[in-house]
Amino acid sequence: MLLSVRDLHVSYGNIHAVHGVSFEVEEGEIVTLIGANGAGKSTILNTVAGLQAPDSGAIEFKGASIAGRSAHDVVKLGLALVPEGRRIFGNLTVYENLRLAGFQLDAAELSRRIERVYGYFPRLQERRGQLGDTLSGGEQQMLAVGRALVTGGNCMLLDEPSMGLAPLLVQQIFEILAEINREGVTILLVEQNAHMALKLANRGYVLETGNIVLAGASRELAQSPDVQRAYLGG
Ligand SMILES: Nc1ncnc2c1ncn2[C@@H]1O[C@H](COP(=O)(O)OP(=O)(O)OP(=O)(O)O)[C@@H](O)[C@H]1O
Ligand SMILES: [Mg+2]
Repeated sequence: MLLSVRDLHVSYGNIHAVHGVSFEVEEGEIVTLIGANGAGKSTILNTVAGLQAPDSGAIEFKGASIAGRSAHDVVKLGLALVPEGRRIFGNLTVYENLRLAGFQLDAAELSRRIERVYGYFPRLQERRGQLGDTLSGGEQQMLAVGRALVTGGNCMLLDEPSMGLAPLLVQQIFEILAEINREGVTILLVEQNAHMALKLANRGYVLETGNIVLAGASRELAQSPDVQRAYLGG
């Protein structure tokens, strides 16, 4: 198992946001967590990525315990987070954002990875000297995904990469995720767009108010009447 989360509890003050969640991601898989607003999806990703401390529970990545470790440590082990709301550096250019994401790399590897991002997103190459703040929403999302690709690692955690994007761009981002996965990167994907997420993922978990209520192969989840009613508009 590449990533394993067991009986995770997370609170904000007296708000208990995640109530004993367990899930696993195998090497090479794409796994999705779906759930309504406030279900706890971002809290789980941020906790795995070391941005939020858990109250209790076990988080293992490549067999090592990472619960409570710093975000910096977790990235070094090979987990890259694309946070919700993009969080790029608005006062830096596209190129500077990418370069910063790969600060740990030597110059040759850094430029190889940045070229690869420009290959996926030619728009970023055109806009490489433009400040992050002045990019469109979709361009900022491309840059957020691009930053995680430069950082690299074996596992990407993505928090709603489709948010606010036009259908064509959502399609493009999902195609790129499939390609990255074929190149060997394991993906844990949080999405409101359950339809797209279940099409891309091998397996999924359904989260309701901090609890996992359903788990299974994406095909089965997509056919579940409960999932159709709540998340697929069926
Ligand atoms: N910093 C915080 N302080 C207090 N409560 C928080 C904080 N962050 C999240 N919460 C609460 O924790 C719960 C889970 O939030 P979380 O952001 O994980 O949900 P989510 O599933 O990602 O929702 P969305 O789909 O809207 O992004 C919510 O009730 C939210 O109000
Ligand atoms: Mg969220």
